[in-house]
This record gives sequence, C-alpha cells and structure tokens, in this order.
Amino acid sequence: MDNILFNEATIATEYINQHFKEDIPTTAVILGSGLGNFTQIVRVLETIKYQDIPSFPQSHVVGHKGNLTIAEVADGKTVLIMEGRFHYYEGYTPQQVTFPITVFHLLGIKNLIVSNAAGGINPKFNVGELMIINDHINLVGAHPLRGKNNEHIGPRFLDQTEPYSYELIDLAKKIGNELGIPHQEGVYIGVSGPTYESKAEIKAFGLMGADAVGMSTVFEVIMANYYKINVLGISSITNMATGIAKTKHEHSSVVNIANMVSDKFSRWVKEIIIHLPNYT
Ligand code: HPA
Repeated sequence: MDNILFNEATIATEYINQHFKEDIPTTAVILGSGLGNFTQIVRVLETIKYQDIPSFPQSHVVGHKGNLTIAEVADGKTVLIMEGRFHYYEGYTPQQVTFPITVFHLLGIKNLIVSNAAGGINPKFNVGELMIINDHINLVGAHPLRGKNNEHIGPRFLDQTEPYSYELIDLAKKIGNELGIPHQEGVYIGVSGPTYESKAEIKAFGLMGADAVGMSTVFEVIMANYYKINVLGISSITNMATGIAKTKHEHSSVVNIANMVSDKFSRWVKEIIIHLPNYT
C-alpha cells in the first residue's frame, strides 16, 4: 500500500473532513495553468490551504494558487476545486503527484474534471481553442501505480480502454454546442518536462497519434481510473507545439493565453457540472 501513500492520504482526508463544514461534493475539478479564474464564476464557500493539509504537496508553479476549495455552481450543487496541481518536473514522485487523487477517492469523489494548458500538435488546431481529451499517451517514463499493489483497492493490471468517460465526453460536446463554445477533440500526450519539446519530438508525437502535448494530467487520470472515478479532461491550447509554432515558447505567454481562454473554459465547465448525471 505504501506505493500510493494510502496511510498519509487517510490522515489528510480526516483533516479535510474535519475542517470543511460543508458536505464534501461528489465532483472535483483540477484547475491547470491560467485556468484559475473558474473560482470567480462560482460561489466560493470554503477554502483550505494545501500547506495546512498533512502530507499534501505544495504548488510552486506561477499561476497556481494552492487552495482546496468548495464552491457552489448552482442551487445546492457544489464542487471541490483544486486550485493548482503538482507536476513530475517539480521533483515530485508520481505517487506525490497523484496524492490528491487518493484523497479524492477517500473523500468519496465520483467525477473528476481535469484541465491543463497544452501545446497543439494537430495542425488543424488554433491557439486559444479548447480540446476535449478522448485518450492519452503516457510518455513520462514513470507510472503512479508502479510498486506493490493492494488488490483490495484496485487491480494490478488496470484496464485503460476508456480513461476518459465516453458519457462525460458526450455531455461536454452537447453543452459546448449549446453554449456556442467551439472545441476540438483529441489525444493528449503527457511528457515529463520541464523543457519544451524539440522539433523532432513533436514530429514523432504527431506520428504516434497525439494531438496535444503537456506536462501533467496523465498520472492523475490513471489514478482516478484506478479508483473508478469518472474522468473528463479538457486542454487549453495555449501555443502550437515546437516546430509547428513560428516562435519560441515562453511560459508567460502560455499563462496569458490560458487566462484569455479561461472565461469560456469556466462557463463550459460550470454548465457541465450542473448537468452531470446522478449528481448528488
Ligand atoms: N509543451 C508541453 N507542455 C505545454 C506546452 C507545450 O508546448 N504548452 C503548454 N504546456
């Protein structure tokens, strides 16, 4: 059990349960770089700082706040929000990166919406578009489930046929169309970073079937699958990937574009949450 830090996550969960007065929602959202303004279009009810939660890693990336928040999206419908996440390139182990997912499981989360900033590989994509993730490639070179497995929690050899829930993908498409939010759909390839990719890497990733590239998400989704949490993934295409882009990459520009996209992302995600099936 040690490999997924289950005991530490149990203690963190107890802390969270004690410190939130509200009931814990059944849906969680992880906000990626620049997508933090989601909290401005919902009613924030309560917040806990990551630094106060036992064993919870700390968020160091520019544009990541480090708050665990409960907010109301509509009458009686609440969501648990992670404002900022942990990346493998920060030096965290895959188990630390996915620590919050184990906590989500223990808190009773059933649906998870993950978001990220990504570089567009598919030449049909444009900067500023949103992409529904319909599959992923884990090219990080590490895996959060490596190590001893506890069959009582999940299977040793986890199936990956549907890492992103078809039902949630259909719902996201329907709501996107209703709101007039144009969106793409495609495969996200997760790499370790922290460098941006070389031109040769992006060419190879395109041949492998990837539509967008980023440095997060895949570990979290694998762990959510392990706990049978339904996942929806949305990428904000903040730049075209190396070799497709005409200019060199800057993190500040990635965050600026993500901020510009943030408004339509937030409206979309809010409406998706309101229409989630079996929402309790
Ligand atoms: N590559 C990797 N991660 C990213 C990119 C990119 O081009 N853009 C935003 N996150």
